[in-house]
Amino acid sequence: MTTIGIVLGSVRSGRRGGQVAQWVLEQAGRRTDADFRLIDLADHRLPLLTSPIPAMASRGAYEDERTAAFGAAVAACDGFVFVTSEHNLGLPGALKNALDHLYVEWNDKAAGFVSYGVNGGVRAVEQLKLAASALGLAAVAAPVILPFAVEFGDGGTVFRPSEAAVASLDRMLDKVLAWTTALSTLRTGADPEAEIRALIAAVVDGIHAKDLDALRRNYTTDVVSFDVQPPLRHVGIDAKLKNWTEVFAFFDEVAYEMRDLSVQVGGDLAFAHGFGRLSGRLANGATTDGMWVRATFCLRRVAGTWLIVHDQVSVPYDVLTGRGCADLEP
Ligand SMILES: Cc1cc2nc3c(=O)[nH]c(=O)nc-3n(C[C@H](O)[C@H](O)[C@H](O)COP(=O)(O)O)c2cc1C
Repeated sequence: MTTIGIVLGSVRSGRRGGQVAQWVLEQAGRRTDADFRLIDLADHRLPLLTSPIPAMASRGAYEDERTAAFGAAVAACDGFVFVTSEHNLGLPGALKNALDHLYVEWNDKAAGFVSYGVNGGVRAVEQLKLAASALGLAAVAAPVILPFAVEFGDGGTVFRPSEAAVASLDRMLDKVLAWTTALSTLRTGADPEAEIRALIAAVVDGIHAKDLDALRRNYTTDVVSFDVQPPLRHVGIDAKLKNWTEVFAFFDEVAYEMRDLSVQVGGDLAFAHGFGRLSGRLANGATTDGMWVRATFCLRRVAGTWLIVHDQVSVPYDVLTGRGCADLEP
């Protein structure tokens, strides 16, 4: 089912935006062609953007857990409706800050706009459309404009949408849904198996180059790894990379061979398995051919990019002796 995120851009206490976003959610909830969910920036409490790595280079991997959580919420949506007020003739700073935190998560998705304010917030929408174009968001025309004098009562404090506003919202949602469907082929990618094989090849290349940053890009930040080293479970990308840091210290030159790789894809989830062998020249000059291990990767497509969410590396063991079998050949 298509999922549309209703992004509430004001984080002010006592904001009027809450009433407007709730109305959008209720009206949209009557439809059967998509699921609609609120993405309230006030809940996400994003910091001001300070990351040294621009979002477009992060490929969905974020150090800051608030950014990672926000990224996951946005990535889970196929399209968006932005609910925005106007601040000094532009979009609210919190909304711009939130847009700038992410990149791939916005790409190739449709965006509709609902604005409100003394003057209806049209200039905020104009600026939002410009920012959207930089993020690969397809901005649909005909925003829903809600001027206080027309759509709010009690001195502009209570939202009382007119029939015209309801009709305008329906038209805009029709367009967002149609564009979301039309853009779906861009989001799903032409050949997911090839993309996953390329990702696993990138892992192998990262090991050869002892490049922890290159390796990091292939995993989600919350990856759970059942690596061959203890403990039983390594949680998070830093724990995963710690294993490779130890291996890289052990080897002067390191190689990793992957063979018999099989990839199965279903929607935005996939798994792959094969045999891997770590070999190379040790710090003391000795060389080792290593041993074959079994490697399984579970992957999820996050905002169009495949990432490893879980991996498992193991050797069979002899049940009687309890010893691992390190001499098996594929
Ligand atoms: C800092 C600030 C600047 C504003 N500038 C504008 C403006 O340029 N145009 C406008 O129509 N309303 C402006 N307003 C009024 C807002 O439209 C109104 O406060 C609205 O309720 C803000 O949305 P919110 O309550 O959901 O935060 C401004 C409000 C604030 C707080």
